[in-house]
Amino acid sequence: MGFGAWRLVLQRLSHFSLGGRLTVGLWTLAPSTEVRILAPQPGISTKWIEDKEREEKMNIQDLEKLIKGRRSVRQWKKQEVSDDLLKKAIELATWAPNGGNFQGWRFVVVKNREVIEKMANAVQSVADKIASWPESAALEEMERYRKNTSFFRNAPVVIATFVGQYQSVMDKALLARGASDQDANRILTFRRTAPTSIQSISAAVTTLLLVFHQMGLGAVWLGAPLMAKREIETILKAPAGLDVTGLVAVGHPDESPQKGRKPVDQVLEFIR
Ligand SMILES: Cc1cc2nc3c(=O)[nH]c(=O)nc-3n(C[C@H](O)[C@H](O)[C@H](O)COP(=O)(O)O)c2cc1C
Repeated sequence: MGFGAWRLVLQRLSHFSLGGRLTVGLWTLAPSTEVRILAPQPGISTKWIEDKEREEKMNIQDLEKLIKGRRSVRQWKKQEVSDDLLKKAIELATWAPNGGNFQGWRFVVVKNREVIEKMANAVQSVADKIASWPESAALEEMERYRKNTSFFRNAPVVIATFVGQYQSVMDKALLARGASDQDANRILTFRRTAPTSIQSISAAVTTLLLVFHQMGLGAVWLGAPLMAKREIETILKAPAGLDVTGLVAVGHPDESPQKGRKPVDQVLEFIR
């Protein structure tokens, strides 16, 4: 039996792992390969195994602290953010759930001041244009929004998130059926209210923000820059077929904002 086959067996059986490690000197494995003990030992209950595995995970209080402690940060110190941290955070973000495990996302990390400045100017220019329309004059919040559109120019790092178009088997069938079929058309409309690719990148960005927070960095998810979608794609020389979905601005935080949430009972319903 070759090494690949052995590894498969070991992975399959590792459900029964005791968390211990054993060095196996089988010639079919690399010398001194470490493997987990493959089967429950007599006299050791499964309960012990489960407790042991639970111990290895972060406890729920720490997880709650991490989730509730994260805030959107919009002011940063001038301090540099290392490439290693950024790469690790993005690697962890790619473990987010995503439709069909297609992983059609791309992350472009911009540290170049000139490029960040260009993106910020492009976004500000569109915001200024929208604010100048007579229809905007009546909107009380408009001036505040206009002014706060391009603050990300001060961020040490801006990450642009991209997605390619993901089509599940169902999408393929619906598209092949064509617009002439009323049912296919209707179902396609449902699918488009929450495209899988957008849900997937959102899961990744959420994960990314939590990782940044755990790393002591401060970040904010930015949807407003989409006003200048084409301009940003041109500035970043995005390949055809990839759409920018937003930006994440990140750095060492220079503020500690507070924010609350609605009580869960206001947003939760059980159907029993
Ligand atoms: C999809 C999305 C788009 C957002 N776009 C912006 C934005 O354009 N500008 C901004 O300042 N914050 C933006 N935010 C951050 C929200 O304002 C922020 O998450 C919300 O106010 C809650 O605050 P918290 O993140 O500190 O809990 C966005 C957040 C999400 C999820």
